[in-house]
Amino acid sequence: MGVCRLIDFHHVTKRYQGQDKSALEDLSLRIHDGDFCVLLGESGAGKSTLLRLLYCAEKPTYGRIVFMNQDISTILHHEIPKVRRNIGVVFQDFKLISNKTALENVGLVLWVQGEAPSSIYEKSLSMLNQVGLQSKAHVTCGYLSGGEQQRVAIARALVSSPRLLLCDEPTGNLDAKQASEIVDLLISANLKGATVILATHDLYLTGVHRKKTINLSKGKLVETTIMDL
Ligand SMILES: Nc1ncnc2c1ncn2[C@@H]1O[C@H](COP(=O)(O)OP(=O)(O)O)[C@@H](O)[C@H]1O
Ligand SMILES: [Mg+2]
Repeated sequence: MGVCRLIDFHHVTKRYQGQDKSALEDLSLRIHDGDFCVLLGESGAGKSTLLRLLYCAEKPTYGRIVFMNQDISTILHHEIPKVRRNIGVVFQDFKLISNKTALENVGLVLWVQGEAPSSIYEKSLSMLNQVGLQSKAHVTCGYLSGGEQQRVAIARALVSSPRLLLCDEPTGNLDAKQASEIVDLLISANLKGATVILATHDLYLTGVHRKKTINLSKGKLVETTIMDL
């Protein structure tokens, strides 16, 4: 069985309104199913923009983006939720609902997707178990440490078994120990089959379990390296 392409960028340029410089310029790249991809580049290089284009928070100014054989560069608003069901996203600042419990934060995703309450409880608890937080399931997120909150966010991102996990500087607010725990969880998600894109400016993170590195600078692709494990 050959490797399956999951994402294709064809000459993608993104220019935000009112800006004369492109956030991304003429970017072409391919990501395969099962890749663990580190998106590297200095602040302002265009990493977050690339991720935002993938989860349809932005549209490219020029070029074409294909995700799971669907052209998402011209996607209509009402088609976006269907695409996003295949994508989990983790942010630097967690973006949890701080007055809800860990379990509620994770379960909300499934509730929105119309799952039955008993299955929501079971799946969310099992997911929290996988990130080592079963004992904190009923703790309000605002009372959890940064590392714990990020683990809840990862559980939330993974609970609907997405094909693609996008992580935008997920360790940016964490100390070294917490950061390495988070990276371990991303690796484990990848080993279970999710394609992972990890955006970071932290060179330390790029050595871990790397399969593919996409190096951006000032919106342009500098190099792509592939490392066999
Ligand atoms: N919403 C926006 N409006 C205008 N310019 C933006 C917006 N978001 C990002 N930019 C600009 O686009 C460039 C790339 O930003 P970004 O994708 O956030 O880079 P990174 O995540 O690598 O730091 C930067 O020059 C930034 O200032
Ligand atoms: Mg960014």
